[in-house]
Amino acid sequence: MSKLWGGRFTKATDKLVEEFTASIEFDKELAMEDIQGSLAHVKMLGDCGIIPLEDVHVIQNGLLSIKKKINAGEVEFSVIHEDIHMNIEKLLIDEIGTVGGKLHTGRSRNDQVATDMHLYLKKQTETIINLIVDIQKSILAKSKENVHTILPGYTHLQRAQPVSFAHHLMAYFWMLERDKGRLQDSLKRINWSPLGAGALAGTTFPIDRKQTAAILGFEMVYPNSMDAVSDRDFIVEFLSHASLIMTHISRLSEELVIWSSQEFRFIELDDSFCTGSSIMPQKKNPDVPELLRAKTGRVYGNLMGLLTVLKGLPLTYNKDMQEDKEGMFDTVKTLDGTLRLLAPMIETMIVKQENMYSAVSQDFSNATDIADYLVTKGLPFRQAHEIIGKIVLHAINNDKFLLDLSLEEYTQFSPYFSEDIFQILLPKQVVQARVSEGGTSFEQVEQQIQLAESFI
Ligand code: ARG
Repeated sequence: MSKLWGGRFTKATDKLVEEFTASIEFDKELAMEDIQGSLAHVKMLGDCGIIPLEDVHVIQNGLLSIKKKINAGEVEFSVIHEDIHMNIEKLLIDEIGTVGGKLHTGRSRNDQVATDMHLYLKKQTETIINLIVDIQKSILAKSKENVHTILPGYTHLQRAQPVSFAHHLMAYFWMLERDKGRLQDSLKRINWSPLGAGALAGTTFPIDRKQTAAILGFEMVYPNSMDAVSDRDFIVEFLSHASLIMTHISRLSEELVIWSSQEFRFIELDDSFCTGSSIMPQKKNPDVPELLRAKTGRVYGNLMGLLTVLKGLPLTYNKDMQEDKEGMFDTVKTLDGTLRLLAPMIETMIVKQENMYSAVSQDFSNATDIADYLVTKGLPFRQAHEIIGKIVLHAINNDKFLLDLSLEEYTQFSPYFSEDIFQILLPKQVVQARVSEGGTSFEQVEQQIQLAESFI
């Protein structure tokens, strides 16, 4: 079968080379974007008087009919035509005859593929943003039910100070809010149109780049044709934002795994999100959060892969750049699947409020509060810290917690203690007392939730 670019060649392409250089196996994913770009391009060619309007109509109809056939699964792509761009052009010529060959006037695959990728990532970025909002909503719903649920807050995975469970969950809301902001910001750059840059230097035809940009919904055209065909920053940005999203999801997943362990028993994931063991009948494994945690690896890998492909590439297009696609598709698919699972998993998880409460009742996470108590009685904080350290040691040595000590025991360490200390040490009171802006007191958490609602 003859190649669309075969004119200059006297020998057929080696079979292995044909397969090695072809991208159709994966870039067929861009079929719809490719047709969308071609429809805009051919309309502009007609409007600018570069090809006759009758030809424009024939080409448009041909493209629409190919689109239908692809969607109906009636089309077989071939490695002989290397990539999605040439496969579609070949299909068009088969469909409408040689007039189909006018479509590629004033265009190169270099600006074409860049356009397809912009269109693709724009659509995917918008979907991902919506999926993030779904997770934020499920976090908000769970948080609203758990403002007064108290659990230990940790530093170094050691119990530190008790917090509202809503406060803990809402931390993830804000991470996702920043992720969403980064994706929204990246749309500004995804919204540049490379179409009309030609192979690298522009074209001799009087094309109208602003028109194709407007038809395709782009906000501006790349001001430099060489940059337009060389730029893959927008993909790197996407992969990098995806990596950070996965970092956040992985941290949350890790907490879900820990919290659902027998050692913690803070939550129970719904049966529909867990699996059993082939040998141990008692097992209910948190496979979903484990896999979400693990999939972070491939997303990071895709980012590193593309950065490495691009480094050191001379301007402008190089075949190396064809390697930008599989990692991008894989990241989109991974992120999409991950985000879709997370919202229902959060919604259906059972929060074991009593277990969380009994954890905070049996630890020293109220120690800072007695220190603060002594400060309100006039002691410098550093001195109060020292005294409480000794009290904690005394309690540990006697197998007791701070609430179990008697007032007499307290006053042995400082004369400032009185009966009201026991009120201050209650876990709910400890949480309630953190009234500073963004702190974990119930009112602050309620306010935070209210603010969060205005973000979605
Ligand atoms: N399949 C190619 C890619 O994805 C399309 C651009 C090819 N351009 C070229 N000059 N060979 O990068």
